[in-house]
Amino acid sequence: MNNLWYKNAVFYEISVRAFKDSNGDGHGDLRGITEKLDYLQTLGVDCIWIMPIYPSPLKDDGYDIADYYSVDKTFGSLDDLKELIRAAHEHNIRIVMDLVLNHTSDEHPWFVASRSDRNSPYRDYYVWSDTDQKYKDTRIIFVDTEPSNWTLDEKTGQYYWHRFYASQPDLNFDNPKVQEEMLNVARFWLDLGIDGFRADAVPYLIEREGTNCENLPETHDYLKKLRAFMEENYPGRILLCEANQYPEDVRPYFGDGDEFHMGFHFPIMPRIYMALKKGRFADMEEIMRRTPAIPENCQWCTFLRNHDELTLEMVTPEERQWMWEQYAPEPRMKLNMGIRRRFAPLLDNDRRKMELANSILFTLPGSPIIYYGDEIGMGDNLDLFDRNGVRTPMQWDNVPNAGFSTGKPFIEPIKGELGYERVNVACQINNPDSFFRSVKRMIALRKSHAAFGGSGMKWLDAGNPAVAAYIREHDGETVLILNNLSDAAEVVNIPAEYQTTYLDLFAGQNIAVKDKLTLQPYSYLWLVKK
Ligand code: GLC
Repeated sequence: MNNLWYKNAVFYEISVRAFKDSNGDGHGDLRGITEKLDYLQTLGVDCIWIMPIYPSPLKDDGYDIADYYSVDKTFGSLDDLKELIRAAHEHNIRIVMDLVLNHTSDEHPWFVASRSDRNSPYRDYYVWSDTDQKYKDTRIIFVDTEPSNWTLDEKTGQYYWHRFYASQPDLNFDNPKVQEEMLNVARFWLDLGIDGFRADAVPYLIEREGTNCENLPETHDYLKKLRAFMEENYPGRILLCEANQYPEDVRPYFGDGDEFHMGFHFPIMPRIYMALKKGRFADMEEIMRRTPAIPENCQWCTFLRNHDELTLEMVTPEERQWMWEQYAPEPRMKLNMGIRRRFAPLLDNDRRKMELANSILFTLPGSPIIYYGDEIGMGDNLDLFDRNGVRTPMQWDNVPNAGFSTGKPFIEPIKGELGYERVNVACQINNPDSFFRSVKRMIALRKSHAAFGGSGMKWLDAGNPAVAAYIREHDGETVLILNNLSDAAEVVNIPAEYQTTYLDLFAGQNIAVKDKLTLQPYSYLWLVKK
């Protein structure tokens, strides 16, 4: 058992509802994932993250939980989950799930009781106030839909606090009972065999007047308790932190190696898209240099897309405007502080850019995560509400319903240029020239080289602003990475200390690198020092 498995693992995020329907009811389910484990193993996935499967009124696609202790019946049963975990482990694949600590659904029995009466024993499970003027320095996250973080409860005449939709009241983590309840929730799923949690929205657990109510010390205190509990009872299981913050603010979530095992690197993500559009790597370099070192037992998690909008919270207002101009030409592509499009359409389905973005993803420090369907370059559907446009059925095949379901799918699979008739697993998996095969290859190469497992990098001064050139070094292995972000051939200068013989991983041949090297437009090289 390697308890540090997550430090160099490839993750894959699944919307359970959209992945594979096993029983023809039109909704993806847990058994559907079990059926597709061979596929995930073929791709090279080490760990799946499944989006929420709890019973929920679905005002926020399951991030509004009405019962922490069961599986919504459209997804299957607890036994189906156990079977999925067992089968996944047999495929050497681990499974983490969402743990939503910050809030519940307004239909959760705790909130129903809490709002029923000011004297309810559950009143203090949530954050109530006589006025909506408290915590004024706190930003609103869902700016397109929520006018305030407070909503008046008519019946009891007080306001309740919520950082997301009004249908998601925040739990009161100053209440020791709430703290205890959530440890019990974690215990329940860990006992069932889950390999860890993607902990949702953790910066917002605690509120304090005069602060922005994010990343507070008391929030870290609780998260450390959760970690200590897991460390003691479930070593080897992980906590992955969703804190959409700048690197210096994410750093405390790793603690002294006693808080989160992993944290998403949010700010590098939009800067990869900036780099691709500008043909310049400076923004990427700036944020990576600004990224503090993390404890030895921790790791970043890097991504190009996920189930939410491509968030532009961690860029300046000018950069956000620029990103919208470049990547969201139609107003409906914008959502909140981001862009609700998928990976392939964002990059105009340009194969060279799509590969290059993945070359960056798979060579930066951190364990990469792939959002389901992006490995084949599937499309999105802007006609669907909010973030649903990037949560459409997985495109397995060119048969009716994309091979996703034999029934009537909860949402139609995508048609058209990036729809299932053209873009699907069946046509890519055995085609050596497919995008899927390129991604699979990158994963395999990455996994067979220890250098990628570290959490640091060194930028090279290669004298060309269009070529991101860096060194990854770990466990006695050195890899030189070159990514040409420009649409022209570019020449780089290789510093003297790196002029030597390398194995070119994609060509499978040795190359003697001298002082200069030419890269074709949008090409990339991964070179292992001999
Ligand atoms: C996280 C999830 C997002 C959800 C929000 C509220 O940011 O990624 O999908 O809406 O938390 O739970």
